[in-house]
Amino acid sequence: MSSETLDKEGVTRRDFLGLAAFGAAIFSALSVIAGTLRIFKPNVHYEESKKFKIGKPENFPEGTVRKIDERNLFIFSDSDGIYAITAVCQHLGCIVYTTEWGFQCPCHGSKYDKEGNVIGGPAPRGLPWFEITQNVDGTLVVNAGKEVPKGTKYIFA
Ligand code: FES
Repeated sequence: MSSETLDKEGVTRRDFLGLAAFGAAIFSALSVIAGTLRIFKPNVHYEESKKFKIGKPENFPEGTVRKIDERNLFIFSDSDGIYAITAVCQHLGCIVYTTEWGFQCPCHGSKYDKEGNVIGGPAPRGLPWFEITQNVDGTLVVNAGKEVPKGTKYIFA
């Protein structure tokens, strides 16, 4: 008679331990394979593009100001052209609003003139202006990653 003990289905302790060891070996092998395959996936953090379309020039008639909330940006249009100024306060990032004399930050009181130059409060620098280009289909594109000198206005057909 065998010294091994059998359970109700006839599986010995040795068989059980063998199956458990086999399962652990398979799990380990799959983990190593998964880790190895991970090497081939680029470790890249994808950021939202800083370029975005704002529509056709006719959407910005002379004398208008439009705020693009999802981009925290103002688009102005006057007799000299169209221009884009950020709505993000340069102090701690609150969103400014326009006033009759320029921009006001509701958080700590920074004030900017109509060109975005600091005229009061703790903001360390003025509001950046961004480049605007036009696609071949006529759509305007703001590049919030590319600052342009204050006063840069664009005229589009
Ligand atoms: S965040 Fe605008 S003044 Fe502080």
